[in-house]
Amino acid sequence: MAILEIFTKDDPRLRARAKRVPRVDDGTRRLMDDMVETMLAAPGVGLAGNQVGTLLRVIVLKVENQLYQLANPELIRAEGEQIGYEGCLSVPGYVGEVARAERVVAKGLNRHGKEVRIKGTGLLARAIQHEIDHLDGILFTDKLTSLDTLRPVEEVLGAEHSAEAAELAV
Ligand code: NI
Repeated sequence: MAILEIFTKDDPRLRARAKRVPRVDDGTRRLMDDMVETMLAAPGVGLAGNQVGTLLRVIVLKVENQLYQLANPELIRAEGEQIGYEGCLSVPGYVGEVARAERVVAKGLNRHGKEVRIKGTGLLARAIQHEIDHLDGILFTDKLTSLDTLRPVEEVLGAEHSAEAAELAV
């Protein structure tokens, strides 16, 4: 496995629409594993292909100790609303307030190419929506409830709260 470079907000790859994975193969699995290693090292709770410079629709997430690796993820249901602070490994040092659906169901292909569904609420739902947005070239800074809410992470959480800051980095 390898730690990949995470591209940050002015990189054009973050604004591109990623392409569907035609077939989940060894190359896809290697990419998924490298993305997991990169996400955990960052540390963060989610990462999308665009952020590491591959324009393939692959996302990884680790929420509440559960790891997810998905190719071609799609939201099939989104309900309710949550408003909260969110960050991104591609927008280091900042968080902002974003409204997301509170509960989602997504489908995609797992590392064996089998179709799976993920049901998420709260942080998992937020992270799934954030990562799928990445694949469409959208950053959380495009969706702020108000521009004034984009603030340095230590102003919002305090300098000592690095664990919570990692939870916001999706
Ligand atoms: Ni992100």
